[in-house]
Amino acid sequence: MRVLVGGGTGFVGTALTQLLRSRGHEVTHVSRRGGEQRVTWEELARSGLPLCDAVVNLAGENILNPFRRWSDTFCREIISSRVETTKTLAKAIADAKQPPHAWVLVTGVGYYRPSPTAEYTEDSPGGDFDFFSRLVSSWEAAAAIPGSPARAVVVRSGVVLGRGGGAISHMLWPFRLGLGGPLGSGLQPFPWIHIRDLVGIVCHALESESLQGILNGVSPSSAASSGSSLARELGTALGRPALLRVPAWAVRAALGAQRAPLLLEGQRVLPKRTLQSGYRFIFPDLPAALKDIVA
Ligand SMILES: NC(=O)c1ccc[n+]([C@@H]2O[C@H](COP(=O)([O-])OP(=O)(O)OC[C@H]3O[C@@H](n4cnc5c(N)ncnc54)[C@H](OP(=O)(O)O)[C@@H]3O)[C@@H](O)[C@H]2O)c1
Repeated sequence: MRVLVGGGTGFVGTALTQLLRSRGHEVTHVSRRGGEQRVTWEELARSGLPLCDAVVNLAGENILNPFRRWSDTFCREIISSRVETTKTLAKAIADAKQPPHAWVLVTGVGYYRPSPTAEYTEDSPGGDFDFFSRLVSSWEAAAAIPGSPARAVVVRSGVVLGRGGGAISHMLWPFRLGLGGPLGSGLQPFPWIHIRDLVGIVCHALESESLQGILNGVSPSSAASSGSSLARELGTALGRPALLRVPAWAVRAALGAQRAPLLLEGQRVLPKRTLQSGYRFIFPDLPAALKDIVA
């Protein structure tokens, strides 16, 4: 199948592109920069959807970008890079003479309210209590195409663990130096997924002929993972101690009070519909996932 991937040049997009090509699919990226096998967002808005069978959107300014201070400008970029790109793709799909069969959006488990105890499935309410939950709501709303024949799937992803990018890339050097440890109390739930499973779920959504709706993109054991278990298992995978707790105030000082909750709080999320849809996880457990990443 011919798959158009917004934000396909990033951390998740690179892994998705490799998987799709290895399965014989053709991939074109939508990017801010033109190039081979790429169209720009402006070209897409001007000329409409290129002929394709499926569309995925992964575009989004990196929320944990350590070089960006939290500001109104940064907030607007976080929102518009997700909501406007999604609207652009949704409009192009709605206007296409030959619409694609599938439309997949990857959002986040920030939709659900952080809680040390509550457990969430795809049917749980959320989306209306803080900046991140409202962001996910408007992002998912932007994907709606009333009356479209394209099957729509939204994958709400947890923290993506993989080599060469994402949250773990910021944690590896202190842990390698033996300076790692839990963030804050360490009691916060840690909703995570191995990158091979996130792109596996997106591919499963594209290739399954009748799948639609919300899928939680977290590992089945992640509801039992905490900040402390992440630190302990990462230390074990690296053969380094992981005892130096990073106090909550230091995380707030580094990231700002608005972003720090992303690391100091978390949600217990279950991939109930994802499992019911027949997806089989490659890395259901944290120790094996981390061992694979640091190997
Ligand atoms: N990584 C995670 O832990 C995680 C967790 C939950 C949800 N997600 C979501 O999954 C998606 C993919 O994540 P990722 O980690 O692969 O992201 P990423 O590598 O940080 O970025 C993905 C792509 O988004 C495009 N992009 C960045 N800033 C943009 C902007 N201001 N305007 C328009 N496009 C912009 C870039 O493509 P070009 O440079 O080619 O334009 C980039 O390659 C994102 O929407 C993210 O919010 C990720």
